[in-house]
Amino acid sequence: MKKYFEINKIIKPYEKVINVEGDKSLSIRWVLLASLSQKKSVAYNLLKSEDVLSALTCIKKLGSKVKFVKNKCEIIGTGLNYKIKKNLTLNAGNSGTLGRLILGLLINSKKKIKIIGDKSLSKRDFSRVIIPLKKFGAKFQSQKNNLPLVIKGLENPKKINFKEDKGSAQVKTSIIFAALKTNGVSTIKAKKSRNHSELLLKYLKVPIKIKKAKNYDFIQVRGINKINNLNYKIPGDISSCSFFIVLTILSKNSKLLIRNVNINPSRIGIIEILKRMGASIKMINKKEYKGEKIADIIVKSSKNLRGINCPTKFNSSAIDEFLVIWLVAARAKGISTFKNLSELNQKESPRLVWGSKILRFMGVKNKVNSSSIKIYGNPNILVKKKITIKNYLKDHRIFMMSTIAALTFGGEWKISDVNSIRTSFPTFLKILKNIEHN
Ligand code: S3P
Repeated sequence: MKKYFEINKIIKPYEKVINVEGDKSLSIRWVLLASLSQKKSVAYNLLKSEDVLSALTCIKKLGSKVKFVKNKCEIIGTGLNYKIKKNLTLNAGNSGTLGRLILGLLINSKKKIKIIGDKSLSKRDFSRVIIPLKKFGAKFQSQKNNLPLVIKGLENPKKINFKEDKGSAQVKTSIIFAALKTNGVSTIKAKKSRNHSELLLKYLKVPIKIKKAKNYDFIQVRGINKINNLNYKIPGDISSCSFFIVLTILSKNSKLLIRNVNINPSRIGIIEILKRMGASIKMINKKEYKGEKIADIIVKSSKNLRGINCPTKFNSSAIDEFLVIWLVAARAKGISTFKNLSELNQKESPRLVWGSKILRFMGVKNKVNSSSIKIYGNPNILVKKKITIKNYLKDHRIFMMSTIAALTFGGEWKISDVNSIRTSFPTFLKILKNIEHN
């Protein structure tokens, strides 16, 4: 595939029905939980992206058996004690979720295990999981809390009490996973974040109790000796949908129906935010599936978009979607502000910095600092320039945001790196082609 993706035309009006691939958070969690059960687990619609394939490679190295039959993936795990070979290295690739979650599961490994990742992951902060996992009794070797790092767990990890105040589901889950391998009850006061792990564990009848307060959840997890297998049909990923939702909102006379999407309330900040900005989005055919909520989403071209002073209560539920939300802010009437988002600079690339730069390339006035961005919207904005996005950290969401910007604002774009979509949404361009060809 060519490294740069070139776009020089605004997309024509369309009416389409699409499905997106399986949710990434649920796919990685399914792989890891399935690896803990000795019985066969089956998943349909598992996301076949590099992040999930890295998870499968890791659990294979830890003794699980993995088999694909068409759209079905089967895992026979090892039970709670992995089979760990000497000098084992696990590669988390580009995935912060995999790198951080798997460390929790390695808490009871007495042998040293090395975790490595790609260039982008090796720049990301691991102190956020090293600190709580040390409380369980694990030892770490690393330079500046980055990958590569070595973890050495212990046969009987200690139960802990911990306050997670970044609102990071990765940190929360890493702690919950480690707590499963202790002999006692651990408690986590966790700032609100996506709750897929808690819902899956409840469905699996693991002793986990959750008390919800306004900004925090109080979670109690008791250690277990074994866990049931998990059969699961993975619903579509709202983060993948977000690019097509915004494409449709910003396109003329267009309509899109996206089928079978996970609409867990801790994930749909984008829908709440865009509705407040005047976008036409509806969720229909709502149903429950094994603790999760699923729906079809209908979105239409939206005129009269207005700026938003985005409530920070949506920060965690829209954390992966802000880049595309900012494109709507660029087209809205008035100023939009998004605050307390320093976590965005901890992602695959520093997204607050990059998002602001791309808007500036487009001629969208914005002011950014280390935790917030102010965007001066303009309903009549059209881009007429040549724009080249050299994304050195190969951030998939920067690539997809830029593609949607090019198709809706105009200009002559050359966008790098096409291959980045493989990490989360390998069929992104295929779906786009289907939408483009009426
Ligand atoms: C994820 C949690 C989020 C999100 C990431 C996936 C998860 O990260 O950005 O893409 O599956 O738990 P943080 O928990 O670090 O905010």
